[in-house]
Amino acid sequence: MGRQIRFLLGDEERCLEGNAPSQTVLRYLRESERLTGTKEGCAEGDCGACTVVLGEPDGKGGMAYRAVNSCIQCMPGLHGRQLLAVEHVKGPDGGLHPVQRALVDHHGSQCGFCTPGFVMQLYAAWLTGEAKTRGALKDWLAGNLCRCTGYGPIVEAGLEALGEGGHGRGGEAETARRLAALDNGAMLRLSGRDAEGREQRFFAPRSLEELAVTYWGYPNAVLVAGATDVGLWITKEHRHLPVVIDITRVPELAQMKESETRLELGATVSLARAAERLFAIHEDLGELMRRFASVQIRNCGTVGGNVANASPIGDLPPAFIALGAELVLRRREETRRVELEDYFLDYGRQDRAAGEFVEKVVVKKLGPASRFGAYKLSKRFDQDISAVMGAFRVEVEGENITAARLAFGGMAATPKRAKAAEAALIGQPFAEATFRRAGQALCHDFSPIDDMRASARYRLLAAENLLMRFFLANAPTRQGGGVPLRLSELA
Ligand SMILES: Cc1cc2nc3c(=O)[nH]c(=O)nc-3n(C[C@H](O)[C@H](O)[C@H](O)COP(=O)(O)OP(=O)(O)OC[C@H]3O[C@@H](n4cnc5c(N)ncnc54)[C@H](O)[C@@H]3O)c2cc1C
Ligand code: FES
Ligand code: FES
Repeated sequence: MGRQIRFLLGDEERCLEGNAPSQTVLRYLRESERLTGTKEGCAEGDCGACTVVLGEPDGKGGMAYRAVNSCIQCMPGLHGRQLLAVEHVKGPDGGLHPVQRALVDHHGSQCGFCTPGFVMQLYAAWLTGEAKTRGALKDWLAGNLCRCTGYGPIVEAGLEALGEGGHGRGGEAETARRLAALDNGAMLRLSGRDAEGREQRFFAPRSLEELAVTYWGYPNAVLVAGATDVGLWITKEHRHLPVVIDITRVPELAQMKESETRLELGATVSLARAAERLFAIHEDLGELMRRFASVQIRNCGTVGGNVANASPIGDLPPAFIALGAELVLRRREETRRVELEDYFLDYGRQDRAAGEFVEKVVVKKLGPASRFGAYKLSKRFDQDISAVMGAFRVEVEGENITAARLAFGGMAATPKRAKAAEAALIGQPFAEATFRRAGQALCHDFSPIDDMRASARYRLLAAENLLMRFFLANAPTRQGGGVPLRLSELA
């Protein structure tokens, strides 16, 4: 059993006991270590000023590095890992690192507040070899905001500094060995008091069995995976979380399995890892994942968290419902399967009993008769939550539609199928008139609300238009050369 958080800060060992389990990595760096290079902009994962790099043994004798938002990651997540902040980024001679040098040379900084975050995000690419093209680099930096410099010089600096990338830090094998020695593989159990002096207990089980038993013992505990939602409960809502169970150290939950017809995603598969498999099912899913939050958030956020948080505007639930997905839920030794669409009962309410958790999501792949589309509408292209999200799967035999699953987010209190619109499609030809009728039926399926993201009128009209977009993208007579319907057609 582990009662201490043991990790490497740069190359120095740290062993902490009694820290509040909900202390954020950002607070620790700035207040305990006085490493104030890492900045706090928004404290909610949006601006990237707090970006740091986490390293962990890659299981092959080396290290795997990823950029994360330190403002919403909590200290227990560091156990057995290496934390690199901007103070640890240096050139070979101890001077400026190539990414820092390039930012200076290209005038990529003015007030400088965002700069440590950009340095760390570029440094992550420098270590891993990601973001090799201009387009990929722009996506890579989508989670970092700069209010003064403008992104042109920063992108130019990145392109110059990264080159082929994949440089690593050097000494990875030794770092991996040191980290392995810090983590004895036992369940982490911590206790402490949060910033307001309230008691907290924290568990990080190391197997499915251990998780099932622990959660059964504390059925009111808050489960935490990537903490990209839960982190905000801490930083923005100052919620008291008396008992927290971190599920990310359970190897069974991080598995992905694939057959010809199905894709199984364990609950803690990160959004970043899931992206590639989803892209292979359909390019719209790849595009959806590209626009899902930012690299830093996708590196932490999980598939299970996106489903289990029961948000009406989560991006994956409509896509999964359209594909036809099942959840596997587990409570103690019992597992049960539930259709994803039946899991969402009402706003914030799910078909999940106390002590029960999501073990995996099983998605049905597309067949030769399937047509599929998934479209996210948000105010900003990057790093924004959907106002309306539509995902559609229809099966077509000959000219006729034989089955339809039309799922929407942002249109009701839960992600929901449009049964009236589906009925208007089934048995009808795959033709414009059919889709127009289905679009008109949407008002029987949904009575959306007005909120800061969109008006009810906009939502209904946009949903109808998305259905038409789906028809046009898949229309049998579409020859290409018209208005591009997918970004890939713009290339
Ligand atoms: C800046 C920012 C941008 C974002 N952009 C998007 C976006 O574009 N699209 C989008 O859909 N979302 C977005 N999100 C929301 C969030 O990132 C996703 O919902 C993410 O998938 C949550 O996963 P997580 O692992 O971080 O969840 P956590 O924060 O760890 O948990 C979320 C909830 O799910 C519960 N939970 C987690 N795992 C399980 C499980 N296995 N069983 C039962 N309950 C579980 C937790 O108890 C908690 O209630 C954004 C968030 C931020 C901060
Ligand atoms: S402070 Fe803005 S993302 Fe962390
Ligand atoms: S340089 Fe001022 S915010 Fe980027």
